[in-house]
Amino acid sequence: MCGIVGYVGGREATEFLVQGLRRLEYRGYDSAGVATIAPPRGIQVTKSTGRIEHLDRLLAATPSPGSIGIGHTRWATHGPATDENAHPHYGGEGAVAVAHNGVIENYQSLKDRLIAEGYRFRSQTDTEVVAHLIDSQLKRLDPAADIAAVDYQPLFRAVQLALRQLQGTYGLAILFRDYPTVLVAARLGSPLIVGVGQGEHYVASDASPLVGQTDRIVRIMDNEVALMTADKLRVVHRDQGPVRHLVSVLDADSGGAELGGFAHYMLKEIFEQPEAIRNAMRGRLDMDAATTRFGGLNLSPQQLRQAKRLILTGCGTSWHAGLVGKYQIEALARVPVEVEYASELRYSNPPLAGNSLLFAITQSGETADTLAALREIKRKGYPTMAICNVVGSTIAQEADGGIYLHAGPEIGVASTKAFTSQCTVLAMLAIYFGRLHHLGYDAGLRAVEELQELPGKVGRALETGEAVKRIAEKYAQANNFLYLGRQFNFPAALEGALKLKEISYVHAEGYPAAEMKHGPIALVDENTPSVFLIARDSVYDKVMANVQEIKARGGPVIAVVCEGDRRIRSVADDVIEVPATADFLQPIVSIVPLQFLAYYIALARGCDVDKPRNLAKSVTVE
Ligand code: M6R
Repeated sequence: MCGIVGYVGGREATEFLVQGLRRLEYRGYDSAGVATIAPPRGIQVTKSTGRIEHLDRLLAATPSPGSIGIGHTRWATHGPATDENAHPHYGGEGAVAVAHNGVIENYQSLKDRLIAEGYRFRSQTDTEVVAHLIDSQLKRLDPAADIAAVDYQPLFRAVQLALRQLQGTYGLAILFRDYPTVLVAARLGSPLIVGVGQGEHYVASDASPLVGQTDRIVRIMDNEVALMTADKLRVVHRDQGPVRHLVSVLDADSGGAELGGFAHYMLKEIFEQPEAIRNAMRGRLDMDAATTRFGGLNLSPQQLRQAKRLILTGCGTSWHAGLVGKYQIEALARVPVEVEYASELRYSNPPLAGNSLLFAITQSGETADTLAALREIKRKGYPTMAICNVVGSTIAQEADGGIYLHAGPEIGVASTKAFTSQCTVLAMLAIYFGRLHHLGYDAGLRAVEELQELPGKVGRALETGEAVKRIAEKYAQANNFLYLGRQFNFPAALEGALKLKEISYVHAEGYPAAEMKHGPIALVDENTPSVFLIARDSVYDKVMANVQEIKARGGPVIAVVCEGDRRIRSVADDVIEVPATADFLQPIVSIVPLQFLAYYIALARGCDVDKPRNLAKSVTVE
């Protein structure tokens, strides 16, 4: 989704801006731009649709000098991807330039008013409203006043007054033609971080552009406005007075992700899974008590024992992990679990039992719907937890407690290692709650021992890559796929289908294998492969019967099975063997070949794996 960078200091701003925008590319975007000021020339905006390389070429042809500037990658919401709609946007006749993440919900009424005041709009975006609104407030400043002499307070005030009129969400970076040493950033619901350097300040919508520049950061909170010059930073609350800002150290995990010899981040992250799973478990397995432990839940075992219903919420892949978690927790702990789409939960107002406990599952910790669902449930007075990868993210901060994945930065838009890490953390939670309730010592110990072996088994599942590549090439031209599994493997089927859709643009449906008879079986023909997840579990024979139903209708079958499964060979067209593990962990192993399948089909179809069309890594709008 959209990304913001900003710089004020002693260097050429575009050096950082362009490099920073490249670091934000993974979030997904369709246009990009920068604005700089080099007095007396005023604000110069350079922007266009397409990739950062294109912007870079434009800047090489027509440089944008200046040691202060802002930059943006846009993921279209209001108005299509065009040069005019790309950010930054001018306010007034060039007095202001604004880059914006988020959505201004009341933009139409504000726009009507600004047009009536004489403002001319060049784009269809909601952002241009913000730029003109700030300009209209600046026009009320006393032109004779020495704004710098009074610590830029009138400027602060003008921005504050403009922001108060906005409904919706924003992360903003703002330049002012008449105050060419001042960069302003403001936040409501869309993350912004200020980097503090030696005689320079940076702004970024996530930490990745700051890595290698500075490790001292200030997280701007909702309703705060930060004003920075090269050597000063002041933060005020939009409606109240100055805020004492806390300088913290940038987490070592935050960025710096390089391809390290891999062709794509997705492939690299698939291969990082054994290590990511190890990190998720590090220090959390308690062999003596045959259980797991977590440092950050901030609830005592007595309080956690009182939780009679768990609500797991998230979006996309994180929602799939929640569904795996439901099977795991209900099987091991016998605690009822509901899994809710965060986008539905935020509005559905479900009747919750008094002793419910919410877990918001999110890689980024910034997904707008997940954040809103967490806030809604918290507002109602229920305890909320985050299962999150990005340290210090909004959801991690707002939850009452939580568990970090420690998977390292996930750059690939198609989530891989975050999914398996989330499922691992949920498996650990299942053991933890199990041991609080009915799970005996021996069963607990067996479960923990299985967990210990998981990274090794995922490592062996990675050896399927070459075989899966051949299968992918065989089926790469198919336009429809079914993904089928039962019990623990049903959510993994959903996740496999999502991976294929996301990066290869091939239609794929995930279904519980038996449910397929009630409709999707109509899709089956010789051109529609069905991908089965078959574990050596209690429903093995049932799934084999479902395989026969597909074969009887001429559909090709690709089967992911446990090592040593001979029976499947006479039925399936293509077989991929992965190590067997405990039922509750099997989806974490079996998903690996499905990640490869999506990856290699996307490659065979010539798709851009790390930058799939229309998608954003972190969906920060509703
Ligand atoms: O950062 P989050 O885990 O909250 O993101 C949720 C979804 O947007 C995300 O999982 C999305 O579905 C991925 N592109 C899946 O690969």
